[in-house]
Amino acid sequence: MGNKVELTRRRILQTGVGGGAACLASSAFATELNPERTITLRPRVHPKGWLTYGDNATQHPLRVRPHTPYKVIIENGLEVDTSVHWHGQRVVNAVDGVPGITQEPIKPGERYEQTVVFPDPGTHWYHPHLDSHATVGRGLVGALIVEEETPAPFDHDITALTSRHLVTQDGAIYPNFGELFNTRFPDGATWSWRINSAAAIPHTAAANAHIRLRLINASAMVPFTVEQPDIAALIIATDGHPVATPRALEGPLKIWPGQRYDLALKMPNRPIDLTTEEGFALASLHPSGTAAPETAAPRLPLNPLAKPNLAEAVTFPLTLTRDTQSFTESAIAAFNQLRGYADNRGADWRLNGVSLYEDALCGEGGPPLFVARKGETVRLNITNHSVNHHPMHIHGHSFYVVARGGVPVTSLDVHDTIDVESHSSTEIAFVADNPCRWMVHCHDLRHQMQGMMGYFVVEG
Ligand code: C2O
Ligand code: CU
Repeated sequence: MGNKVELTRRRILQTGVGGGAACLASSAFATELNPERTITLRPRVHPKGWLTYGDNATQHPLRVRPHTPYKVIIENGLEVDTSVHWHGQRVVNAVDGVPGITQEPIKPGERYEQTVVFPDPGTHWYHPHLDSHATVGRGLVGALIVEEETPAPFDHDITALTSRHLVTQDGAIYPNFGELFNTRFPDGATWSWRINSAAAIPHTAAANAHIRLRLINASAMVPFTVEQPDIAALIIATDGHPVATPRALEGPLKIWPGQRYDLALKMPNRPIDLTTEEGFALASLHPSGTAAPETAAPRLPLNPLAKPNLAEAVTFPLTLTRDTQSFTESAIAAFNQLRGYADNRGADWRLNGVSLYEDALCGEGGPPLFVARKGETVRLNITNHSVNHHPMHIHGHSFYVVARGGVPVTSLDVHDTIDVESHSSTEIAFVADNPCRWMVHCHDLRHQMQGMMGYFVVEG
């Protein structure tokens, strides 16, 4: 990492864009910490190039209570700088884990401490926000389960933090993953699936038991599709936020990188597998013991999330393009198809015409994508002018989807990551109620690495 980047980071942290000092001050909590409320994360390298947040290859979900201060200790055992971003949690800006915007990078060997309060019960996850493509791609991800104030009375609560990784034939992470820009299957590498950073394990449950299955896509760059199981399943939460009215899962469910879905299932009297369309088992459930009495499925309380005021909203555009240099888009698409590349080569991705790179956040102090006043409803009209899908993610806020492809959306699903289809638009709305600077980026982390990132400011 060059000096210029270091200097730039420092400058942004000190002078800030949109009120840096005030933003950083908000991390100071006067609250006394219960000594047990300590979370220690030790990012480290495992054999064959895998990374996890600890000594075990398996990553147990981190379970925390909401609205409770936790002391988080991060001991960086990697050879690269790192940080921890709590994906989906509307935390105060100072603990959002974005080097260059909210903190200095955590150096190799360094111990970093912060106090974090998790406001949103539900299914979330965490990952570094530096070298993200390479580190997430090597498995440095964890599930973050924020319990309900009164834990929902499911009989079983199963987390499937699912990720796909490029591996060589002997099970090692494909070397030079960080430099792997575009090639889909280099040197005989194949996709390998992981659940909670390990091989999937079967579960047992009594017939009629109520099961909460938390699905998280923690892949660096690929979606997966859940096949319709042959039992009734209810969608009960999207991106961590309970839905107003649970609805039946009907047909395949595509989950984009960064997204989460909570499903409620009632255990039948026979084994069931919930699989992806490739046949990978996300959850294998086997009946055991005697059947439980038939009861109604537990309901989740809604999270308090301000409702957008669409009538008085401020609308901003967000265009997704790539710098195709001298090529036309169709020529690049044809080229990629011919070569079997998942993506374009040598092109940069842009938000509103500008690329922003992780290792030089806000490089020359570039302007924010938009500025909102605290409390204002923001309507973001995201238009994708490319042939790729883009799972777009915003920090510090969760949003409602207002329209897709120009068609109004009536469900009140809440997301923090939403897929914007090729040559289409998606409109989202949220109340800008969390002050300071927040990232907006594509959660296909290869696109993020290639510049598909920016930030916005909430003043006040
Ligand atoms: Cu999952 Cu900017 O993050
Ligand atoms: Cu993208």
